Amino acid sequence: MNDESSGHGRFITLEGPEGSGKTTAARHLARWVRDRGIATVLTQEPGGTPLGEEIRRIVLHMRGMSDDLDPRADALLYAAARAQHVARVIRPALERGEWVVCARYLDSSLAYQGAGYGNDPDEMRRLQAFATYGRRPDLTLLLDLPVAVGLERTRRRAEWNRFEDTETAAFFERVRSAYLALAAAEPDRFEIVDASGSVEEADLAIRAIIEPTLASWS
Ligand code: TYD
Repeated sequence: MNDESSGHGRFITLEGPEGSGKTTAARHLARWVRDRGIATVLTQEPGGTPLGEEIRRIVLHMRGMSDDLDPRADALLYAAARAQHVARVIRPALERGEWVVCARYLDSSLAYQGAGYGNDPDEMRRLQAFATYGRRPDLTLLLDLPVAVGLERTRRRAEWNRFEDTETAAFFERVRSAYLALAAAEPDRFEIVDASGSVEEADLAIRAIIEPTLASWS
């Protein structure tokens, strides 16, 4: 795992396609780490700061705007939310020695704005390095599942999201493949979790990963 100099806290991200259960898994993971006596910040992207929450509304929930974003404008909005999040929430917490559990981070932009919307992968990487001040996660859990299973789960969501009207299964297949390629390229940072079963099964798989990691970090 990469142990960067910005404090002693550990930075864990959860990634995955639509409906993979990142939000629930992140909540359970944060609670579990806290139960071990470790101060832990639970957060998500896009969001996590007042600016991030405003950007979240713009990129996801405003009909007529969210579904008509130029791919570069889209990438820059996510990047702006991320920079604010790193500067105001993630980095300060890590510097205090706390842990940060974050649902979605830079890999989401590589997968969605890069592979999904066709922005150049190298430009996306440079943009992420800029937006994150170079802070990469110590561990990334990739919650993987077949696209059709994930989309079926998200149909039950209450709030309109731009993807519902505009994106096809092919788009989400590109996102999933990109995630798997990212995991293959950085096996030290990524762990793949089978997210096609129940919440309990995913939680068990995550704990099985975190136990030895926790031991190796202490
Ligand atoms: P969210 O409601 O958090 O859904 P999920 O439970 O799937 O995480 O919505 C986040 C959406 O934003 C999701 O569809 C992916 C997208 N997204 C990007 O396209 N790029 C990014 O960098 C991030 C953080 C999210």
